[in-house]
Amino acid sequence: MKAILLVGGEGTRLRPFTLEIPKPLVPILNLPYLEQFLFFLKQVQVHELILAAGYLSDQILDFCKRVSGSGIILKYLIEKEPLGTGGAIRNARAFLDETFLAFNADIVTNFDLRRLLQFHVVSKGEMTLGLVPVLDPSSFGAADLESTGRILRFVEKPEKGKSPSNFINAGMYVMEPQVLDLIPEKEKVSLEREIFPKIAQSGKLYGFPWKCYWQDMGTLKNYLQIHQDFFKGELLLKIQEGSVQKNGIFIGRGAQIDSSAQLGPCVVLGENCQLGADVKISNSVLWDQVIVEKGSCISNAIIGKKCVIRKNSIVHEKAISLSGEVNIV
Ligand code: GTP
Repeated sequence: MKAILLVGGEGTRLRPFTLEIPKPLVPILNLPYLEQFLFFLKQVQVHELILAAGYLSDQILDFCKRVSGSGIILKYLIEKEPLGTGGAIRNARAFLDETFLAFNADIVTNFDLRRLLQFHVVSKGEMTLGLVPVLDPSSFGAADLESTGRILRFVEKPEKGKSPSNFINAGMYVMEPQVLDLIPEKEKVSLEREIFPKIAQSGKLYGFPWKCYWQDMGTLKNYLQIHQDFFKGELLLKIQEGSVQKNGIFIGRGAQIDSSAQLGPCVVLGENCQLGADVKISNSVLWDQVIVEKGSCISNAIIGKKCVIRKNSIVHEKAISLSGEVNIV
């Protein structure tokens, strides 16, 4: 089966990191998101994955070259101008000649894709969305669906108590190629805003609700949350070879940690990090080659590759990269 992964967005909510690397290469537990995604995709037989790229596409291409040999043929399409989530899928039409899967490249989940595919076959729809339940749908689009799974519409950001359901779009779809005919060619088109309503109108849009771990890694807060959820055992992630995991701490290869440093809970250290004397770190993710000088205290923070935290610094609820820093709110 073929699949398409949308990797062309600017990932503005993950700045400053996405000023330097595209969101699909942001590390999740020390491995690029794309590598974690390929691990997730293993549950189904996908033999060809098309990456619809645009923003910082050179880095995506480099990644494709490095992972070639993973058992999946990786192809890529580069948009000169962003085509939006719908236009990007339309752009891959020449490759998508049978039932296919499509994904946003920012979901971290253990959704059962085999059941999603089975449901799609049984429902005979033209498009089936993976749906996940959330406690409060008021900041999402909530699906209004019949007991058969047919989706009538999405209600955007419903007021509390007025939501048709607590199921939201999980960013993963099974699609029939004829759906591509509904998407105008070479134009910026939103799948969610422009194409879902069209398919719903013809009664061919279905949703498959599945209770599972699901998180959008596209905000700084969610990014930290995913790592905390990993330590709680709520999701399975690929583990980088040579890394060590103990007592809620994950240590990448080559780390040098002073014996007086206090780590935990929920700390991820990338490769070759150096921590000085009396450093304290909790609920934080450090990327590769971060240096934390003596006496510094880091909590609820994300520190990007090659950053140096000078001695006796206090870093709390901050995202810091070589391009700048922002508060995590
Ligand atoms: P924010 O700017 O933080 O909203 O992130 P984003 O740019 O990733 O946007 P969003 O989260 O809405 O995108 C959902 C998915 O669609 C992500 O996997 C994006 O990479 C992808 N995406 C968004 N716009 C485009 C586009 O114009 N072309 C392609 N190929 N992918 C896109």
